[in-house]
Amino acid sequence: MQPCRPHHHGELPCNKDEEDEERRHFHQVCNSYQQYATFHQVTEQGVNHRRERLLSSMNAVVEDGGPTVESILQKSLSQQQMKKNNELFCQATIRNQYFLDNVLKHCGAMTSQEVLRYRNEVEAFEVEWTTEDQISKIDSVLKSVYRDWSIEGREERSVVYDKLLGALDKYLPIRGNDDAVMNNSTDDDFNNYNDRGPPNIPPRVAVPGSGLGRLAFEIYAKGYSSQGSDFSLPMLLASDFILNGCSGTDTGSHRKFAISPWIHETKNVKSLQGRCRTVVVPDVVAAVEPSDDGELAPDFTMLAGEFLSLYSHFLPGNRCVDGDESQEGSVEKFNAVVCSFFIDTAPSLPHYLITIYHMLQNGGLFVSIGPLMWHWSGHGAVLPDDLANGTMNETSNVQGDFINAKHKQRTEHLDQRYLQSVDFTWEETRALIVNCGFEILEEEFDIRTRYTSDALSMKKVDYDCVFFVARKIA
Ligand SMILES: C[S@@+](CC[C@H](N)C(=O)[O-])C[C@H]1O[C@@H](n2cnc3c(N)ncnc32)[C@H](O)[C@@H]1O
Repeated sequence: MQPCRPHHHGELPCNKDEEDEERRHFHQVCNSYQQYATFHQVTEQGVNHRRERLLSSMNAVVEDGGPTVESILQKSLSQQQMKKNNELFCQATIRNQYFLDNVLKHCGAMTSQEVLRYRNEVEAFEVEWTTEDQISKIDSVLKSVYRDWSIEGREERSVVYDKLLGALDKYLPIRGNDDAVMNNSTDDDFNNYNDRGPPNIPPRVAVPGSGLGRLAFEIYAKGYSSQGSDFSLPMLLASDFILNGCSGTDTGSHRKFAISPWIHETKNVKSLQGRCRTVVVPDVVAAVEPSDDGELAPDFTMLAGEFLSLYSHFLPGNRCVDGDESQEGSVEKFNAVVCSFFIDTAPSLPHYLITIYHMLQNGGLFVSIGPLMWHWSGHGAVLPDDLANGTMNETSNVQGDFINAKHKQRTEHLDQRYLQSVDFTWEETRALIVNCGFEILEEEFDIRTRYTSDALSMKKVDYDCVFFVARKIA
């Protein structure tokens, strides 16, 4: 069965304003895809300009003929070497742009070259430049493509993905593979975990925050019905291209691209060659032959949207889609929710947990691995000057008069999710999971891994992740 193209679900724009907003966002993301190489080339020119300025402004001649800024710079980096370096860098940006252009073509948008031609043809064309912030999102996409879809990324991703796949295999084996759970669990466990509908129908697994989609695809490839989801359009465009545009089912060939995922890194770099080196993506053909087996065949979907909105129809009293009463109770629940580096993206963990709880059938599995990096943390802290009465008061925070207007003014430009965010410890997180209605079956600490890490960098960040398997108690 073909993996589906990402489509919006649960967050369909309902009015013209929302439609316009969605179109504007799509345009903005395509713009940053199209301007990627230009942005990086111009930034690099800016760096070269600084080097030139160093030469001209600080070349004081030292009387005794010792080293000057000019002499050491020129000896270290000749004009010829500079030219070579620029070419190397430029080629890397073009390589990445070629990949991004293919993503653009796949989603029906203009490529960077088409935009350029259009600009040359239309005299009054005014370029709407994207921002550094938007370009950094494209840099992250390329690093995620490396993590999920290159041979080099396997070491990093397999530490976490294999753990999650192993848990599915152990507690929710594909029929025919039931020996696995019998070997690892008691008979009672086996009966509990297998409340999953008629035999031979593939268990349903949700993979929220699926990024570039490799984990969701691996789960599907094992025989589960897999539903990935993500709210980042830059990520979704690239994952859609890899899942649907590289398989070459029409041409019978597997399309591969060489990309340079670290060209934007300027710190802790050992060499320009290292910075511009390539990896080939995707490392596997992601498409699977269509099947005639109907509901017996696993299916694979990728949804675009914010996690809580996408799955809000599972919440009690909220089961009707678009007010359609006939849908009441018809929502098919999942047998497992599998998260990799996802639960700490929650501005409010309890909301995520409650949604996961209601997405699952009784006895369903909640499996997760990752750190607790709390993505919405670190903004809008309350400072001493923000206290309502100028002093701390033990009870004031519960009475709602804890913070004065200054804090509001200082933070009103922030996304409200920053102000909602609480950094829970693992102990607290665990208690929230248990009190939500889960039983923890497995818990393991210090699973060391990296995330989109440049193996040649002088700075590498290790995460000692927590892995757990929890089961929804009926
Ligand atoms: C740290 S990445 C992990 C990606 C992938 N699971 C992996 O292990 O490589 C977190 C992902 O979750 C997505 N994400 C964060 N918050 C989300 C939300 N509220 N709804 C949907 N996706 C979200 C981000 O766009 C990103 O792709």
